[in-house]
Amino acid sequence: AWTPGNIIHDATARVREQVGQDKVLLALSGGVDSSVVAALLHKAIGDQLVCVFVDNGLLRLNEGDQVMKTFADHLGVNVIRVNAQERFMAALAGESDPEAKRKIIGRLFIEVFDEEAAKLSDVKWLAQGTIYPDVIESAGASTGKAHVIKSHHNVGGLPEQMKLKLVEPLRELFKDEVRRLGLELGLPRESVFRHPFPGPGLAVRMLGEVDPQAADTLRVADDIFISELRAAGLYDQVSQAFAVWLPVKSVGVTGDGRRYAPVIALRAVETIDFMTARWAHLPYEFLDKVSRRIVNEIEGVSRVVYDVSGKPPATIEWE
Ligand code: XMP
Repeated sequence: AWTPGNIIHDATARVREQVGQDKVLLALSGGVDSSVVAALLHKAIGDQLVCVFVDNGLLRLNEGDQVMKTFADHLGVNVIRVNAQERFMAALAGESDPEAKRKIIGRLFIEVFDEEAAKLSDVKWLAQGTIYPDVIESAGASTGKAHVIKSHHNVGGLPEQMKLKLVEPLRELFKDEVRRLGLELGLPRESVFRHPFPGPGLAVRMLGEVDPQAADTLRVADDIFISELRAAGLYDQVSQAFAVWLPVKSVGVTGDGRRYAPVIALRAVETIDFMTARWAHLPYEFLDKVSRRIVNEIEGVSRVVYDVSGKPPATIEWE
């Protein structure tokens, strides 16, 4: 029977048999899939698992510390944190094209990850959080059908280059099954039911050139939006929600006087498969509260707008 307990039992046994005494490397992003793989492999092989968490400076507020707290402190997983913020910022400097930004980030991620892997000479396996829908999607991509709109870099790229054998313990599971497994393995509810976050992170939520100061502003605005969603019990009702930083200045007036500063857009969508989506009809009083908090608490923002575009025609992310 399908119970999380049975699945964990079978999966851990299979992994132990597969890798024996070898070391396994995992790129931990803090997303649901890689988190569940980390927890599962830790249960199966303990210290034979080495996780590399790359902080690219494009994560949400306090996200890096939270990942370390959950995995290293709480679960006792072996996690190497690579602080590569400056490298990513330097590589992105001056680039404003969305696809070029994605490619720079994807390439640099592999480079940084590869460097860490090279330091661990005895690693034989690479674990990946591939789930069943990824398998289907990749099959589609090879026929040229899927994802020509935006280049995603979740699957592929690493193994050939690094000559590691693959462990993919979630390959046969759907997302809801992965979440149930995560809960059973003791991951916090918050990480298991987290909204998806794109690999290129805040880089595709700061339109145009990536700017470290804008990233700081965006992080705070996004955190206000997300914490208010949680406080209002709305977080789980939307599929994805986030703030976007617009490189457009508008005039505002506050208690202190005139303000001429960038605009923050809020986006929240409801969707089953992320291929189509409708904008979430959040209550006006809620949006009012979030908007007031953002302008009152962040000096570098002049006004807040709400995105009322569906997908299609608009994509979920703004870039
Ligand atoms: P779009 O913007 O294409 O997004 O409607 C659909 C879903 O995919 C996520 N997304 C990405 N995920 N790398 C990722 O790992 C990317 O480059 C990327 N672009 C979009 C987006 O957050 C949404 O959940």
